[in-house]
Amino acid sequence: MASDILSIAGVTKTFGSGATEVRALDKVSLSVASGEFVSLIGPSGCGKSTLFNIIGGLIPSFDGKVLIDGRPVDGAHRDVGVVFQEESTFPWRTTLDNVVFPLEAHGMPKAEREERARHFIRLVGLEGFERHYPAQLSGGMRQRTAVARTLAYEPRIMLLDEPFGALDEQTRLLLGDKLLEIWSTLKQTMLLITHNITEAVQLSDRVVVMTFRPGRIKQEIRIDLPRPRSSELIAAAEFGRYVGEIWNLLRDEATRGMRESERRLAVN
Ligand SMILES: Nc1ncnc2c1ncn2[C@@H]1O[C@H](COP(=O)(O)OP(=O)(O)OP(=O)(O)O)[C@@H](O)[C@H]1O
Ligand SMILES: [Mg+2]
Repeated sequence: MASDILSIAGVTKTFGSGATEVRALDKVSLSVASGEFVSLIGPSGCGKSTLFNIIGGLIPSFDGKVLIDGRPVDGAHRDVGVVFQEESTFPWRTTLDNVVFPLEAHGMPKAEREERARHFIRLVGLEGFERHYPAQLSGGMRQRTAVARTLAYEPRIMLLDEPFGALDEQTRLLLGDKLLEIWSTLKQTMLLITHNITEAVQLSDRVVVMTFRPGRIKQEIRIDLPRPRSSELIAAAEFGRYVGEIWNLLRDEATRGMRESERRLAVN
């Protein structure tokens, strides 16, 4: 479509060779419209982070095509911001200095970058914690710092790799609300990797279900629930139907993943 900001066509990625060869992605194709919120869900090891690394220009060799605004991705791209799966705040920098970091790297003058950083710190709800170090924050607050840091340089496409994966369910739901609030303000294109079906349904315009290795797209489900949405929506019957539909698609894949790890345990 003409308004697609991101277009992924037939992406295949194999790691290693011979006995250690792993096909992480197999002919993955996906188009994302500007401003859309798309979640990727699939069993562990199905290639979700690999796909993000390819979109973010961090894996240079792969088969297929990734286009941003119709242009092939060639290395890290200013339009793409990634919040990584692992905790990625710098422990030696305060919240403010963490968020300022990418702006500093782009050579933005001090006063301007601090003002910008403060704006995004407010947006993620961390006002008052500018001078705290990551060790003085909770896990959820550290993840919000990482989100603010990526938002600060205003990438047009945000890739969020399980940003709330390690958090408890209540915190995760509330941060989901926060993320929706930010998304509706900034109107960026969001791609979110999650293992949490409720989170995927609450946040997304579309949920993409992937298969267990090699990662392929099993099905895309459009979530036709009204917006604005908040976590209260999870009590609605329609919400439950989407969760059930996605779980039915995922169950086989999750079972295959579990069998494979049991087999590996038996061999070792
Ligand atoms: N740099 C690498 N070198 C070799 N193999 C890799 C590399 N990165 C990923 N893989 C393999 O590719 C497959 C997909 O990994 P990936 O990290 O993309 O999965 P994932 O879907 O993000 O999993 P999870 O949900 O556990 O984060 C795995 O089998 C993994 O071992
Ligand atoms: Mg991953």
